[in-house]
Amino acid sequence: MNIALVTGASSGFGRAICRKLIADGYKVIGGGRRLDKLQQLAEELGNNFFPMQLDVTKKDAVESILLQLPKDFQPIDILVNNAGLALGQEPAYQANYNDWQTMIETNIIGLIHLTHQILPSMVERNFGYIINLGSVAGTYAYKGGNVYGASKAFVKQFSANLRTDLLGKKIRVTNIEPGLCGGTEFSNVRFHGNAEKAADVYKGVEYITPEDIANTVSWLVNTPTHFNVNSLEIMPVAQVPAGLAVYKETN
Ligand SMILES: NC(=O)c1ccc[n+]([C@@H]2O[C@H](COP(=O)([O-])OP(=O)(O)OC[C@H]3O[C@@H](n4cnc5c(N)ncnc54)[C@H](OP(=O)(O)O)[C@@H]3O)[C@@H](O)[C@H]2O)c1
Repeated sequence: MNIALVTGASSGFGRAICRKLIADGYKVIGGGRRLDKLQQLAEELGNNFFPMQLDVTKKDAVESILLQLPKDFQPIDILVNNAGLALGQEPAYQANYNDWQTMIETNIIGLIHLTHQILPSMVERNFGYIINLGSVAGTYAYKGGNVYGASKAFVKQFSANLRTDLLGKKIRVTNIEPGLCGGTEFSNVRFHGNAEKAADVYKGVEYITPEDIANTVSWLVNTPTHFNVNSLEIMPVAQVPAGLAVYKETN
């Protein structure tokens, strides 16, 4: 049976991905900082799910936690680097520096901690799949997207560069780049718990759901092993990239 590790399993996409992969017959390690949420999920999903308290930003802790995984949850065949967040949507000149730092530490540094730790064992076995959760924000600029979008641009390019390093190995890499998805804590986190502002993001929009993303992951991991989807941009029908803006002087 294949073993998957999903970061950010306590909410949103990560939780839905864990549910779907368990239903598909995988063993799944779900990581996140909130152990109570992971334990709830463990009660629902049973013995094929292993809840793992994990802060992806802490390199030494990531290393030692992974070394202590139970034998029947090793080796990891599928790594879903999903943990991530946006904080704030102010213009760069009004942004909170700590928010910027947390996004970089989570979306970039956290993702490379997991990848650096797990990839060598995939290479040793010549088998594995890394799925990263990027974002359309890594491709299209939008107001207030500053460091969040830049962190996802890192994820996009890192995914592409991993593919080049892995040429000749049977290891697959995909960057999933979602647009507007509801039913997660994403906007609550972004707006620091302002539920009204968060709800406003989704008002009147038929958005993508965590289950849509989980079904996408399930499809990807079940494609033939000679087949690699490099990147996958997904938006609700109700969203389009609507590009360039021009500022005009009025006199
Ligand atoms: N929702 C969207 O519209 C959207 C669109 C494009 C891309 N994405 C990306 O998709 C991913 C999942 O987002 P989501 O919408 O599912 O958001 P979410 O509901 O807020 O889930 C984020 C998950 O990341 C975990 N996390 C945050 N910081 C962490 C850390 N330091 N260590 C370990 N886990 C951490 C959280 O768990 P704990 O708090 O328990 O640690 C939570 O489980 C993110 O990378 C996000 O950037 C989301």
